[in-house]
Amino acid sequence: MTEAILLVGGKGTRLRPLTVHTPKPMIPAAGVPFLTHLLARARAAGVEHIVLATSYLAEVFEPHFGDGSELGLHLEYVTEDEPLGTGGAIRNVASRLRSGPDEPVLIFNGDILTGLDIEALVSTHGSSGADVSLHLTRVEDPRAFGLVPTDSTGRVTAFLEKPQTPEEIVTDQINAGAYVFRRSVIDTIPAGRPVSVERETFPGLLASGAHLQGMVDSTYWLDLGTPQAFVRGSADLVLGRAPSPAVPGRCGDRLVLPTASVASDAKLTGGTVVGDGAVVGEGARIDGSAVLAGAVIGAGAVISDSLIGAGARIGDRTVLSGAVVGDGATVGADNELQDGVRVWCGASIPDAAIRFSSDR
Ligand code: GTP
Repeated sequence: MTEAILLVGGKGTRLRPLTVHTPKPMIPAAGVPFLTHLLARARAAGVEHIVLATSYLAEVFEPHFGDGSELGLHLEYVTEDEPLGTGGAIRNVASRLRSGPDEPVLIFNGDILTGLDIEALVSTHGSSGADVSLHLTRVEDPRAFGLVPTDSTGRVTAFLEKPQTPEEIVTDQINAGAYVFRRSVIDTIPAGRPVSVERETFPGLLASGAHLQGMVDSTYWLDLGTPQAFVRGSADLVLGRAPSPAVPGRCGDRLVLPTASVASDAKLTGGTVVGDGAVVGEGARIDGSAVLAGAVIGAGAVISDSLIGAGARIGDRTVLSGAVVGDGATVGADNELQDGVRVWCGASIPDAAIRFSSDR
C-alpha cells in the first residue's frame, strides 16, 4: 500500500489576504477546504497513510481532519520548527514513513488541482525502475515555469530555469507538483536545513546519475497559487471539470451549501459556490465565484470571477469583477471593484466610494 506526504506548510504569499488567517490548503474550494479534495483523491487511488508536512499556521490542520478516519485515512502531522522548504519538509517527515527502502512514497504539493492518474504515476515508477518519478504537464506558455525535458523513454534529461529567450524553450513540459520517490532517496536529502526539492534535490540527483522519470499526464491541471487561479479551480470543481470525490453535492452550474440562503430571483452561474450560512440578496447575479461561509451579498450585486471571504459583506448593487474580498471585510453599496483588486481582511469601504468612469 503506497503512502504519501503532503506539503502544506507554505506561506501562500501570492494568495494574500486569503492566507493571512488561513493556510492555503485550508481555504475552501467548492465548499470544503481545498486539502479535502487532495486527500479524497489520494484515498480513491488506494493511499491510506498520509503524513502532512506543516509549517505556516500549522495548528489548524489537525483540529479539522483529526486522525483522518472520516476520510478512510490514517493521517499524521509533522510541524517544522522553521520552514524547511519543499525538500527539507519531505526529509523532516521521513521518520513517520512505514515503507521499506525500495518502496515508493507519493509526494504532493498541497496547492495543485489535477485529474492526475495517481495509480499510473506509481506504476510508471515501478516499471521504469526510477529513483524518482515526476508528474509533468504541458503548458501553452512555458515562460513562467521551470522546464523538464525528457528523452524518448520519458527519462528526465535536465531541469531548466525559467526560459529567458525563445531558443531556451526546448519543451512545453513542466513539473506538475506530484512525485513518487524511492523511500531510500528521501533519506539522502540533508536534514535540519531548508532544501528546495525543485532547485536543489532534483538537479543534484540528475547530476549524480540518478534515474528521474517523467510521466506526462495532460488531464486537468491548475496551480491554485494566485487568487484568480483559486477562484477558477473552485468553479471547475463545482462544474465537474476538475474531478474530486469530495465536492459536497452534485456538480453543476452552482453549489449552494445546505445552510446558505439564496433569494429566489438571484442568479448563480459558472460554478459559483455559496458557503455555509452565507446569504445572497434579491436579484444578485454571481458568476464563477466563491462566496465563503457567512458572507452576505446585497440585493442587486453583480459579482464575477471573485472570491468573497468568510463573513465579508458586499453592499447592494455593488459590482465586483476579478476581485478578492478578505474575511470579515465590508464593501459598501454602489461600489465597483475590478480585476485584481484585493480588499484586506476586516477592511471597510464606504458606500459609493470606488467607481470606474462610465465612459470606459
Ligand atoms: P507562495 O508564497 O505564494 O509562493 O506560496 P507557497 O508558500 O505555498 O510556495 P509554493 O507554492 O512554491 O509551495 C509549493 C508547495 O510546497 C505548497 O503546497 C506549499 O504548501 C509547500 N511548501 C512550500 N514551502 C514549504 C515549507 O517550508 N514547508 C512545508 N512543509 N511546505 C512548504
